[in-house]
Amino acid sequence: MTDRSYDVPGLRTQVAIIGAGPAGLALARLLERQGIDSVVLEDRSRDYVEHRIRAGVLERGSVELLEEAGCAERLNKEGLVHTGICLQFAGERHRIDFDELAGASIVVYGQTEVVKDLISARVEPGGPLLFEVSDVALHDLTTSRPRVTFRHGGRNHELECAVVAGCDGSRGVCRGHVAPGVLQSYSRDYPFAWLGILAAVAPSNDELIYAHSNRGFALASMRSPELSRLYLQCRPDEDLATWPDERIWEELQLRLGLPGWELAKGPVLEKGITPMRSLVFEPMQYGRLFLAGDAAHIVPPTGAKGLNLALRDVGLLAEALVDFFIGGTSSSLGSYSERCLRRVWRYEHFSWWMTSMLHLPENANAFEQKLQVAQLRYTTTSSAAARTLAENYVGLAPV
Ligand code: APR
Ligand code: PHB
Repeated sequence: MTDRSYDVPGLRTQVAIIGAGPAGLALARLLERQGIDSVVLEDRSRDYVEHRIRAGVLERGSVELLEEAGCAERLNKEGLVHTGICLQFAGERHRIDFDELAGASIVVYGQTEVVKDLISARVEPGGPLLFEVSDVALHDLTTSRPRVTFRHGGRNHELECAVVAGCDGSRGVCRGHVAPGVLQSYSRDYPFAWLGILAAVAPSNDELIYAHSNRGFALASMRSPELSRLYLQCRPDEDLATWPDERIWEELQLRLGLPGWELAKGPVLEKGITPMRSLVFEPMQYGRLFLAGDAAHIVPPTGAKGLNLALRDVGLLAEALVDFFIGGTSSSLGSYSERCLRRVWRYEHFSWWMTSMLHLPENANAFEQKLQVAQLRYTTTSSAAARTLAENYVGLAPV
């Protein structure tokens, strides 16, 4: 019997983008500006993706990419420019000066806000972006006319395209359409996670504080002059119910506090547990499917690299797609995976290094703890070591 359930034939585009996170949305905008058509398919609602609390540190390169995408007006107005971070250990707080060491700064601006800006830039001129799609499936990826089938608004649809961009995050479906045996995965699990809160209180410090302590890691970050974002190292299976707000503030103070320095407290607006994992899938291409962002790799959040890496991928992918659709050459698409992976592995190393230096595994022995403190002391006193941290953090390490 003929399947007539795909009752909206003729839906066509150049690039089918799966996922409306920062990777998929930024790619859609970069392509749009070059006159390349795309359709973005997202399985969650607009409200959900616009309120998911995620990372918040942008490298200069990420800001430039968002400017190129025409989505940086609010970011340039409201983003907080930071020229350094603090590293704290053994009761001492040290500053790493990015400006002096790497000639660069970072911008603190929530991923949630980046996503809102990208969505409104996409939908205002009527760019195709469908929320609440389901049953996304990819077909004919090794031909020059791949197809994407999905359900939306109670009906089945089929989208014909030339290229599929798999920007559907770590739990997406695109990766699963790569033929068995093609993808190689490399991973590391960490024996800890982060308990994070968003609180309605002015940040207690002008810059981020990454703190090593014998009670575990803590991070003081922010979203705006009125909003603090704070994290505590916890167990991966930690039960949030055992962490009433008062206990969280007490623990944060114990890990971040210094004689004469207190953390300001305020109403907790949101709390959650962030797992920690390092994971890379290679290659990032299969036929006409190109993976980007969390769909291809995950970093633990300690170096603030996840969002920046996702944006770097789509910057390269957009350039390669311009060469393909406008320049008529496929060589940049052919080298996309290899070019991305060089940066991916640099950032994987940096994120793993920051994570290992700052977190205390539950069963850590005193030797490991002494090594961490020695490494922190070296990083904050040797200008060569401090520069290594700075150039990686701001995104200027060569790859
Ligand atoms: N169909 C359509 N959309 C999907 C599907 C699916 N089957 N599965 C997942 N998605 C959507 C998710 O709902 C999400 O909105 O894909 C999007 C992926 O977005 P992100 O997870 O934000 O991933 P990415 O755009 O690569 O951005 C990476 O996000 O997780 C953080 O730390 C990470 O900051 C980094 C950034
Ligand atoms: C954040 O503000 O959410 C944040 C900042 C720095 C990190 C991770 C997360 O390393």
